[in-house]
Amino acid sequence: IPVDPFDLVIFGGTGDLARRKILPGLFRRFCSGQMPGEATIVGAARSEMDDDSYRTFVREAIVEFGGGRHCEDGTLDEFLKHIGYVTIDARGTGGWDDLAGRMRDGIVRAFYFSVAPALFGDIAERLHNYGLATPESRIVVEKPFGKNLETARALNKTLAQHFDETQIYRIDHYLGKETVQNLMAVRFGNMLFEPLWNSQYVDHIQITVAETVGVGGRGGYYDTSGAMRDMVQNHLMQLLCLIAMEPPARFEPDAVRDEKLKVIRALEPVDYHHIVRGQYGATDTQPGYRDHVENPRSTTESFVALKCHISNWRWAGTPFYLRTGKRLKSRSSEIVVVFKDTPHSIFEEDAGRHRNVLAIQLQPNEGITLGVTIKEPGPGGMRLIDVPLDMTFADALGPEAEEVPDAYERLIMDVIRGNQTLFMRGDEVEAAWAWTDPIIEGWTRRGEVPKPYDSGSTGPDDALMLMHRDGRKWREIRS
Ligand code: BG6
Repeated sequence: IPVDPFDLVIFGGTGDLARRKILPGLFRRFCSGQMPGEATIVGAARSEMDDDSYRTFVREAIVEFGGGRHCEDGTLDEFLKHIGYVTIDARGTGGWDDLAGRMRDGIVRAFYFSVAPALFGDIAERLHNYGLATPESRIVVEKPFGKNLETARALNKTLAQHFDETQIYRIDHYLGKETVQNLMAVRFGNMLFEPLWNSQYVDHIQITVAETVGVGGRGGYYDTSGAMRDMVQNHLMQLLCLIAMEPPARFEPDAVRDEKLKVIRALEPVDYHHIVRGQYGATDTQPGYRDHVENPRSTTESFVALKCHISNWRWAGTPFYLRTGKRLKSRSSEIVVVFKDTPHSIFEEDAGRHRNVLAIQLQPNEGITLGVTIKEPGPGGMRLIDVPLDMTFADALGPEAEEVPDAYERLIMDVIRGNQTLFMRGDEVEAAWAWTDPIIEGWTRRGEVPKPYDSGSTGPDDALMLMHRDGRKWREIRS
């Protein structure tokens, strides 16, 4: 079903995110018929360019980053008719009247801030001063949303001067991933899981987001951030919220976000013995972390593993183990719910050895598996084995699973529809920083240096110990 007509302005329209994600995503929505004929997309950036040269830029981006077969059949030419460009000075006056002249009245306007956060305030102010901010307008802001609680608060305050919270869409692209939403469908659409979803039945929960990429060309940004700010404060925190929150009364923006906020506020401060920081070293063939950043003695972490607790009735006593890192063995992200042992085993030899495990895979293949214990087939007596009930979406849903939109395309369409459910509210972001800040401050205060780990490994050995100490182990990062 097509969304309503809209004008979308991408500030930072020539940047990396626009090239890799936003523009190809919009094109895929166009191909699927979701983008209406009356949609206009305007790139806005500092470079001097006219509409035609920007269309060439957009064409190249789409061909390179996933336009697929529709690049050849004339659809891309049609899409490019919707594209325009304005050279803009985010801190000055140039281009703003031109941009205002291109906007149509009475329809949805979305302004995507795909620029450095230092420019958010300047752009918001100019949108207001040049009369571009109408009641139908909304702004989309990218991470990093601040560096700590103080800067996030200042950013929220700046945006609030010109826009209402209902007009602000803070993107966390993990919330746009298909399986992440499926997590809510599985939890709240089935009778099976929710009664068991608490510390009485769940031994522990693991969240792993493993990447094979290093920091590459992003060293400048990454070295001021590190894995804690870049991944844990936002993406892993969002996953944690969705897995741990109480059932919202309705699947509506504030009902869902209220529940997520309660989870973050119930997080206990993390004991520093329960955190492991790592940094990947160089190999004979691959540069190490410090080769990618300016500071040869950088102590920024490219890996974090930690154990945390949520102090509420549902989760008291159930630890949550989180880990994420770059240059690991494989790209694999999953949430694993490990249930407790049965209270009594009637099969003596197997007592206590079998546990149900629900694994929700985010990438590379999206799907859910539930490990159940059954009798090993054959005449060998009552021997028990664990087998997976596999719900890999590609197998279960066939070609439909292939059509799953990427996180960005889904989220941009939600912006146009005016649905904030999958976007972070200001208070949520601040609460997440309030939990993260003391961890980072503690590292600085103690002068802590990250543990080195090999590229292609599962991170520093101490991360394994974090679980072994508790008599548990990480599920293997699958190749
Ligand atoms: C981004 C981080 O937000 O998420 C990157 O800044 C990270 O460092 C990326 O690589 C991971 O996203 P995905 O969708 O590839 O798992």
